Amino acid sequence: MAPTDPDFDSLFFRSALGRFATGVTVITTEGKPDHQPLGLTISSFNSVSLEPPMVLWSLSRKASSLLHFQQSERYVVHVLAASQLPLAKRFAYGSQAQRFDGLALTRAPSGTLMLGDNECAAWFECYNLIQHEAGDHMIFVGQVEHCHRNFNQPLVYHAGDFDLTPSTEPLSNN
Ligand SMILES: Cc1cc2nc3c(=O)[nH]c(=O)nc-3n(C[C@H](O)[C@H](O)[C@H](O)COP(=O)(O)O)c2cc1C
Repeated sequence: MAPTDPDFDSLFFRSALGRFATGVTVITTEGKPDHQPLGLTISSFNSVSLEPPMVLWSLSRKASSLLHFQQSERYVVHVLAASQLPLAKRFAYGSQAQRFDGLALTRAPSGTLMLGDNECAAWFECYNLIQHEAGDHMIFVGQVEHCHRNFNQPLVYHAGDFDLTPSTEPLSNN
């Protein structure tokens, strides 16, 4: 049987999804053929499998970096600490060309470009294992080759804001 059409609009859907609190990540790789650093803020990150270790995230098919991530062999997922809010904003709203300006960079053990700032709550170096088209996004499943974690407070995203906002009803219907 085919799915029935949604009885809500995309604004309401977005608002409902926003009730799910997430962490915030910055995912980095390098472009081809120039090896330019690429990165963006992603909250759709989640765990998939423990053995073998796998994670997933989804990328808008409108993202300027889509083709580069599709062609990349590996990427690094940085789970941001609360202290890294400026990085989350820079990698979401800043121009791709300037996102890495003035930032220290390093390489993960398999050679993938990553942020040198080791305040991250965790990072995962992933082999780009599976890509799956899903509506207006592309789902990426990465096999984790290396990871690291700290015990600092993570950055949280909830109801369209970088915080756990109170669960009061908004003035609009959204
Ligand atoms: C908190 C937060 C979470 C985000 N999560 C995602 C996500 O999961 N997938 C996505 O495609 N875009 C997400 N975005 C939007 C991208 O970060 C943003 O569109 C970015 O500019 C895309 O970069 P690009 O077009 O240069 O590839 C998120 C933005 C914010 C602020």
